[in-house]
Amino acid sequence: MFVVMITSYASLELAVKATHDGAVDFIPKPFTPLELKSSLETIAKQIYLKRMARDMKQEGKQIRFQFLSVLSHELKAPLNAVEGYLNMIKDRQLGSNLSDYDELVDRSLKRLTGMRNLIFDLLDLTKIESGKPSQKSENTDLVTITRNAIDTMMPFAIQKEVEISLNSPEKVEKFLDPEEMEIILNNLISNAIKYNRQKGTVDIDIRVAKAKTTIIVEDSGIGISQEDKAKLFKDFSRIKNPKTRNISGSGLGLSIVKKIVELNNGTIKVESEPDKGTVFTVTLPV
Ligand SMILES: Nc1ncnc2c1ncn2[C@@H]1O[C@H](COP(=O)(O)OP(=O)(O)OP(=O)(O)O)[C@@H](O)[C@H]1O
Ligand SMILES: [Mg+2]
Repeated sequence: MFVVMITSYASLELAVKATHDGAVDFIPKPFTPLELKSSLETIAKQIYLKRMARDMKQEGKQIRFQFLSVLSHELKAPLNAVEGYLNMIKDRQLGSNLSDYDELVDRSLKRLTGMRNLIFDLLDLTKIESGKPSQKSENTDLVTITRNAIDTMMPFAIQKEVEISLNSPEKVEKFLDPEEMEIILNNLISNAIKYNRQKGTVDIDIRVAKAKTTIIVEDSGIGISQEDKAKLFKDFSRIKNPKTRNISGSGLGLSIVKKIVELNNGTIKVESEPDKGTVFTVTLPV
């Protein structure tokens, strides 16, 4: 409820007291229609602001709750799996032949790698959300960072026989945070390999225009359907279908990329055709 005081005993003390007692506005008599209207507008604005603050508060809590429950699930699942495998080994459930346990050890290692990647993603996320954004900007060569990201991902590309090409000027030096740029490129290139087909291609383009720098990562992979596109860029969002079933990940990569891009006042967009490929385009203002 919002109270407006309309009175003919207009004095400053009274106005102060009315406000103190909870009135949102104070209209001394006689008042013109315009004064009344302006007062009502003030009230409407206050109601609106109060509602918005309440909604945002609720929403913030809910998102946090959702985040934590997904996170604990994602951390618990590999722990349970590894614990289960270790117990099977401890009880010698597969007999006395050591090599029969290789599969269990491999599966455990795979789950632990996934868990470590998730923790690294979380570290990136907390860094972005707690630290002041882009504080460590310096003269950064995007081409070197891209080459390093390609080198890092090369073992996975070789495994999948994916050919990676880079098309860029010799150097693209911009005033940016190198760690943030590394995160963007690592994630986009890692996805382009992970969600590619055997013997596919990844083409990376870095273009420089007067007011902006554009990074394009194009792959020849499984693609993303129109309706799944809407799910991208959210925390823990993974697209579940038969084509992605055997590919592991935490679903944090793209949400981190988007946060960094936005901290830098840039944009990210995606174009994709299922079974043809996907193009991610990041544009950063200069
Ligand atoms: N290049 C791509 N082609 C097809 N699908 C993609 C591509 N990049 C991302 N996706 C889809 O978007 C989802 C979210 O990607 P994201 O990078 O955020 O998470 P992830 O790769 O599953 O895990 P990680 O946190 O390890 O990166 C993926 O699970 C995948 O389904
Ligand atoms: Mg990813």
